Amino acid sequence: MAVSHLSPEEEELIAAIREIATERVAPRAAEIDRTGEFPWDMKELLAQQDIYAMPFPVEYGGLGSTKLAVVRAIEELSRCCATTGLLLAVQQLGAMPILLAGSEEQKRKYLPPLARGEWLAAFGLTEAGSGSDAAAMRTVAVRKGDRYILNGSKRFITNGGLAQVNTVFALTDPRAGTHGISAFIVERDFPGFAVGRIEDKMGIKGSQTAELIFNDCEVPVENLIGREGDGFRIAMRTLDRTRPGIGAQAVGIAQGALDLAVSYSKQRVQFGRPIAENQGIQFMLADMATKVEAARLLVYNVAEMIDRGEERFTMYSSMAKMFASDIAMQVTSDAIQILGGYGYMKEYPAERMLRDAKITQIYEGTNQIQRLVIARELLARASA
Ligand code: CAA
Repeated sequence: MAVSHLSPEEEELIAAIREIATERVAPRAAEIDRTGEFPWDMKELLAQQDIYAMPFPVEYGGLGSTKLAVVRAIEELSRCCATTGLLLAVQQLGAMPILLAGSEEQKRKYLPPLARGEWLAAFGLTEAGSGSDAAAMRTVAVRKGDRYILNGSKRFITNGGLAQVNTVFALTDPRAGTHGISAFIVERDFPGFAVGRIEDKMGIKGSQTAELIFNDCEVPVENLIGREGDGFRIAMRTLDRTRPGIGAQAVGIAQGALDLAVSYSKQRVQFGRPIAENQGIQFMLADMATKVEAARLLVYNVAEMIDRGEERFTMYSSMAKMFASDIAMQVTSDAIQILGGYGYMKEYPAERMLRDAKITQIYEGTNQIQRLVIARELLARASA
């Protein structure tokens, strides 16, 4: 297992989360996938066990955990159920703009209920016509007195419709490009806010993905995050800090698939002996384990860079998310191969793991966008 420099207290916390994941999350995973219903019991579990509190500072009711502990928690939960791992990842994502750029009043109002897990958070950046090209958004916010009036819609929003706290990005100056985008905190019961279509997805079935609609939605001026025009930078800085969490989700899924493949191969007897005795299977398992470990190291490495306060970690964050999600697809596919016909059936969790892994190559920036971010930084560094 990769080196991870947690304090003894945080090691204990992760050991406790590992146990909770194995004993209480894993038994629910298949049913959550089958029903596609949001797992309110898992949400309560994360709240009761103070897991939601991890990414939040102590002064706002959180545990003030290191980034390394947060990614390890997401990994452990995702090893057993990717939907449950996402609960923690998206709470961090939705809250991050407030953590990074929120006013003291905004932090005091919104962070404690999020840290307690009473409220859920969502991050509203993507639109029907602007995914990878995040700056091409059409949602507008026009100031009228002590309110901003938002019009437009957001698509594919995790926790959409369930989140009380939505951090939403909209154009306040459509002529100013990325400098004309601003960030807002939109509460679910603000006038003019509505939930549109709820998506039917391939994986992470228990996570609710919905459209957010703003129809003359009234947002008080005090809910602007930072200053007008800061929004795009806030969104990018948020993703820099949350993409490692998606990497961790991918590592967790891959580890779950590897564990399954190892135990199955030791039990499955063909030609008079366990298939694990075949070198063909052994080599597959060795490659899978090496990939998982390499991905884990990239995720832990960038988490520790963030914990050390290093400033230039964008590229490493993209590398961790990209590599981990790519290997999660390979490892889950190989796990199905090792399980053979059983792996293809819903009777075993391997096929769920593959369906869950796929989204990690797409959300929080496709892996093509991660490669673009990596290449840009690589080339900029070389010419500096
Ligand atoms: N940190 C700080 N500032 C940054 C930054 C970063 N990481 N990246 C860019 N910026 C700044 C730039 O410095 C630039 O500022 P100046 O104009 O002052 O120089 C400004 O932002 C514009 O930057 P770019 O010219 O690089 O912008 P771009 O339009 O070329 O886009 C991009 C860059 C990286 C492709 C970006 O659009 C991107 O990340 N796209 C992917 C979006 C994404 O990840 N969406 C996921 C949505 S969330 C989701 O999936 C969640 C869910 O619900 C699960």
